[in-house]
Amino acid sequence: MEKFRIRGGRRLRGEVRISGAKNAALPCLAATLLTSEPVDLYGLPRVRDIITMEKVLAALGESCEQHDGVTRAIAGRGDAFHAPYELVRTMRASVLVLGPLLARRRRARVALPGGCAIGARPVDFHLQALARLGADLRVESGDVVGEAPQGLRGAEIDFPRVTVTGTENLLMAAALARGRTILRNCALEPEVTDLAQLLTAMGARIVGIATSTIEVEGVDALRGAAHTIVPDRIEAGTYVIAAVLAGAGVKISGCRPDQLGALLAVLREVGVSLSVLADTIEVPEQAVPPRAASLVTAEYPGFATDLQAQFLTLATQAEGTSAITEAIFENRFQHVLELKRLGASIEVEGRTAQVHGPTPLDGAAVMASDLRASASLVLAGLVAKGDTVVDRIYHLDRGYEAMEIKLNGLGAEIERFNPGPYL
Ligand code: UD1
Repeated sequence: MEKFRIRGGRRLRGEVRISGAKNAALPCLAATLLTSEPVDLYGLPRVRDIITMEKVLAALGESCEQHDGVTRAIAGRGDAFHAPYELVRTMRASVLVLGPLLARRRRARVALPGGCAIGARPVDFHLQALARLGADLRVESGDVVGEAPQGLRGAEIDFPRVTVTGTENLLMAAALARGRTILRNCALEPEVTDLAQLLTAMGARIVGIATSTIEVEGVDALRGAAHTIVPDRIEAGTYVIAAVLAGAGVKISGCRPDQLGALLAVLREVGVSLSVLADTIEVPEQAVPPRAASLVTAEYPGFATDLQAQFLTLATQAEGTSAITEAIFENRFQHVLELKRLGASIEVEGRTAQVHGPTPLDGAAVMASDLRASASLVLAGLVAKGDTVVDRIYHLDRGYEAMEIKLNGLGAEIERFNPGPYL
């Protein structure tokens, strides 16, 4: 299994360019199932989850071709409708094909994603809402099996709680449903907006994009389109935090600072100096460590749960005690035990982590447990004394494009190695 060896203490300098957002690219790829015409997507990040989604599409008869930064998704002639467990179990977001399959092929068989490292994460809201559009759904041998022989029909849906992929699944299903669908309590995340923009370019009729109530007037067919994926705000936020921790002047370019409002506000509040331009964030070398912060993760535009782990690493180097509360997922502090192995002083009580800082970190062997937890360990390794070895970096490869190459480009010293099966 591949690992990173990170030599701590290197200062980061220079410019890092942000890739397209994985979490926008995934639903946009799923949306290509809604048309028989080719769809061109620009700026898909080359990360493991995207490759998995391309395999899911291949299992459904589609092919994806790459040329010069464009991925062209081409519908096949068949009407396959089964997304198998071997693929779905490695990536929950495979459930995003459920809505498009039911809408266009009128049947779907998608393996249930099951539990995951950061909490139960059921898909009940997706299923309840699709049933309201007229899908007949049941669970059979671990798969969600759905049929809508007459096609889906518009309905009113109130999500019991904001769900990002749930909103996306329903937007795609409603685009080809008969009549009007009203979706209430929708996720406002920029990735949902990005998908809605692609759907609109494909001919979908959507009103209320980027608001919590979205109305979709179903159409008979969607056409091909070209779309550029929004920059990855979580990747950008991760490099901003890296620059605060270990930087001596870092420019994070090709990003959308307007979508990082909550992170930038907290950083400013605790004394971090930053300058923000239209698509760039500049983090100068910090004269003093940041002060401790208190924050609670929330749906967009609140503080992203996907940046909680990375911020927690920063809190280990801040002056005072930070209180970091995870309000979206019930089990998302697995990085804490690993950070403690590096010497961090953290107590978790319920959903809140109290982080005491600044604590010098000491390099050690640690294990990544999920995508964002892995990033927090890499950040810790940048400031730890000596070498930190992060195991199971396949988690990191799911969502960060070429992370060690980007960090090494800034002056970090990270080596990817594979010690073979016995170490
Ligand atoms: C998406 C993101 C993930 C991010 C999360 C929250 C993708 C591919 N993934 O995940 O990176 O951390 O949003 O911003 O975009 N819930 C239910 N039943 C459901 C659906 C959700 O109980 O049917 C709960 C979840 O367990 C969680 C909360 O609702 O507690 C929000 O989850 P949701 O927004 O659906 O997360 P994902 O879309 O899976």
